[in-house]
Amino acid sequence: MTAPAAPRAGGLWVTFEGGDGAGKTTQATLLEEWLRESGRAVVRTREPGGTEVGVLIRNIVLHHRGDVAPRAEALLYAADRAHHVATLVRPALERGDVVIQDRYLDSSVAYQGAGRVLDATEVRDLSLWATEGALPDITVLLDLDEASGRARLDADDKPFDRLEAEKDEFHARVRAAFLALAAAEPERFLVLDATLPAEELAAVVRERVAAALA
Ligand code: TYD
Repeated sequence: MTAPAAPRAGGLWVTFEGGDGAGKTTQATLLEEWLRESGRAVVRTREPGGTEVGVLIRNIVLHHRGDVAPRAEALLYAADRAHHVATLVRPALERGDVVIQDRYLDSSVAYQGAGRVLDATEVRDLSLWATEGALPDITVLLDLDEASGRARLDADDKPFDRLEAEKDEFHARVRAAFLALAAAEPERFLVLDATLPAEELAAVVRERVAAALA
């Protein structure tokens, strides 16, 4: 699974990955606050839906009633990603900003690959084609077993989206796929136990980001 990362200047790109309910948004917010306090220019974004076009795509992939064919779903996420990287992420990195992003292509490999049972390499290659090979500097994987993830979502009291509503067995495959991705690229990934207190996790993330910015 080697990827030809396209060269790009400046900036730092941090993505957060993990199952639903793992606490990505909390950690992204804590990192954003810390970086802003230290005076860094930060762009906070997410997939799907980091751009206007992306919001439209997000609406289809998460809220369309009825089936979306697995390959169509993979292409929709890849289309969102192509537009997002070209119009928002790459320009921000070129300005020298820190980009903090909820989910990226690892989510496609885990959810559309292992979850929907498409070929993982093909799903990854599709996203790499879409983004001209763009890979984050740091990917924080918040690892959580599917039962705990489900319990957190239940406690949230929000209606489930199409993927959240999948069975535990789907989420178990997604989790295993994330862990396999992290094992294949240990330099990019920081794997954390999502059951630890949020402040403790945030401190580890800060340490890793500070080292990369130094
Ligand atoms: P997310 O924005 O994390 O959900 P929420 O807003 O409810 O916290 O992610 C939305 C869903 O999209 C999540 O269930 C995972 C799924 N997803 C994919 O299946 N493939 C992808 O490439 C991405 C980016 C997300």
